[in-house]
Amino acid sequence: MKIPSSGMKDAEVFAKLDEYRKDDVDWSSGRVFGYVFDPGKEIMDFAKKVYNKFLTENALDFSVYPSLLRLENDLVAMLRDHLRGDDQVVGNFTSGGTESILLAVKAARDYFRLHRPEIETPEMILPSTAHAAFHKAAHYFGIKTVTIPVDSGTFRADVKETEKNITGNTIFMTGSAPSYTQGVIDPIAKLSDIARQKGIWFHTDACMGGFLLPYFKRLGRAVPDFDFSLPGVNSISVDLHKYAYAPKGASLILHRTPDLRKFQMFAFSRWLGYTMINPTVQSTKSGGPLAAAWAVLNYVGDDKYLEFAKNKLEATREIREGIESIPELYLLGQPEMTLLSFSSREVNIFHIIDEMHERGWYIQPSFSYQNIPANIHLSINLSNVGRTGEFISDLKESVKKAKTMPSGQLLSGVREMMDEQGEDFLENVDSLMALAGMEQGRLPERMAPVNEVLDSMSPQWREKILLEVTNRFFHP
Ligand SMILES: Cc1ncc(COP(=O)(O)O)c(C=O)c1O
Repeated sequence: MKIPSSGMKDAEVFAKLDEYRKDDVDWSSGRVFGYVFDPGKEIMDFAKKVYNKFLTENALDFSVYPSLLRLENDLVAMLRDHLRGDDQVVGNFTSGGTESILLAVKAARDYFRLHRPEIETPEMILPSTAHAAFHKAAHYFGIKTVTIPVDSGTFRADVKETEKNITGNTIFMTGSAPSYTQGVIDPIAKLSDIARQKGIWFHTDACMGGFLLPYFKRLGRAVPDFDFSLPGVNSISVDLHKYAYAPKGASLILHRTPDLRKFQMFAFSRWLGYTMINPTVQSTKSGGPLAAAWAVLNYVGDDKYLEFAKNKLEATREIREGIESIPELYLLGQPEMTLLSFSSREVNIFHIIDEMHERGWYIQPSFSYQNIPANIHLSINLSNVGRTGEFISDLKESVKKAKTMPSGQLLSGVREMMDEQGEDFLENVDSLMALAGMEQGRLPERMAPVNEVLDSMSPQWREKILLEVTNRFFHP
């Protein structure tokens, strides 16, 4: 493909884009659980207008665009109030939860490099439910991870085991409010207290719940403390592009004091260009996401967010009760917000997912890990409100149908290949993809056979194979 010699007409460009889009998940259908947080057309259209207005502004340098500095400080001020921080709490706007988490880990690493230079191999302790972004941060910043299995009944971080694993090299601990997959809140008060006593950086990952949980509390739910009201919490990540309904590219990393936040920044003047001072990972970046996030918070306002929270709480209750009414299914843990996962001892859950897909729903698989079986995750949202009855009746049908479907066929073919080829198996990812029906950059219609294969492998093999597959997909 080459750049077209003369430009296309705009209508032609849009037609092409629509053609490219035809297989995308339709987020406006109300049948998608996750990926897109849809507040409805009115707010979405408003956010797009503001995004466009600031699309061209460059947040590289606040001295050139003081408006962006002001918008960012306003957002931090609103969220530090929401998360019970005092006027020492500072923070920055980032592109998402992952960037916020990367920055928390970088800040901790650099803080300890200065204050505890004798630590040569810094370690971080992570519950097995901590988001993958922490492992990415460890990978990027050269930190050893110590992963502690969560309690297999509650799916919450195991405080005793965590404490046992603290060493002289531990610099960072975390807990989630709530965790992504099972939607439960870790014992942040206890974990952060231990961290404080031992002089370890504690980060609350409130990417999912930081915005919504305070509303749940106001609605009378028992929400344990997870925010700056706990003296051991040094930093919090809270995403605005999730339950605050800002367009994507919107999260905040908050620190208890400017002295802690300093360690997340980067300044460089030893080259022939401008002095680069980046509070966050990105350098040149559009002002669009920031302005849109600011505008959405102001436009929606507290009363409406509370009403949204009430609707989501109700929808989650309906879905949860619906799942519990299906004898073949069971919930993992006791979900505390709007995120949950469920599994089955007798039906192949990957077939359930495919059957739901056939009925127009998009739901997400999680593979088995340690002793936790493969399960189906739902992030319940405003767009799903009013569709819970339909969802549960389709889920019942899907379970019934999935029961009748065969399992393990692709798996036995792949096992044969693996047995024959051993370690060379990775060299033959192309034949594996052909066997699985992944051709010409497309996934098969039914993913259950592929998911079964991936689920049967060790996580290390899964990572290796999916990396190879992805390396092939991103190839023109
Ligand atoms: C608890 C938690 N932390 C972090 C993240 C990462 O956020 P992002 O996808 O915006 O990078 C997520 C995403 O779902 C999450 O649920």
